Amino acid sequence: MQHAICYISTATKDFTETGIRELLNKWKEKNNRLNIKGLLLYSQGHFFQVLEGEKTTVMELFNSITTDSRHTGIIQIMGKDITRGSFDDYRVEHLKEGNFSRPKIISEYCESVKGMDPETQQQIKTMLQSFIDTQVL
Ligand SMILES: Cc1cc2nc3c(=O)[nH]c(=O)nc-3n(C[C@H](O)[C@H](O)[C@H](O)COP(=O)(O)O)c2cc1C
Repeated sequence: MQHAICYISTATKDFTETGIRELLNKWKEKNNRLNIKGLLLYSQGHFFQVLEGEKTTVMELFNSITTDSRHTGIIQIMGKDITRGSFDDYRVEHLKEGNFSRPKIISEYCESVKGMDPETQQQIKTMLQSFIDTQVL
């Protein structure tokens, strides 16, 4: 059974550019090993994450993520069984002024959720849009 989880949260400390990049890459490698697909964005102290994969693997990882003291205020937007995944890989990004074009990133991410059912797509798109909109970019 495939499962998808999406949440936003707030970092408990200020990460340096190198610090956050190292963590994002480390987690991405682990997700690749676990065959978990999705997305992890970090922007100005906030995280936006989508985890998609085998249900028990995703649930176990999410359990460990929820107890991770590096973030707090986790708001789960979605958690549901899915018939098929929609992401091709695991993508991580530190969003900050100058390193991306806003319309491009929104259209790319909306493209990645295309395979999901329309209701889920809409939920994720709405959250993603407001996540990006509330950041001063
Ligand atoms: C916002 C946030 C997102 C995380 N996302 C992932 C993730 O996608 N994959 C992962 O392996 N660990 C992630 N972690 C780290 C886990 O909470 C945990 O530390 C890690 O999986 C432990 O891996 P290890 O037992 O191999 O050291 C995340 C932590 C935070 C704070």
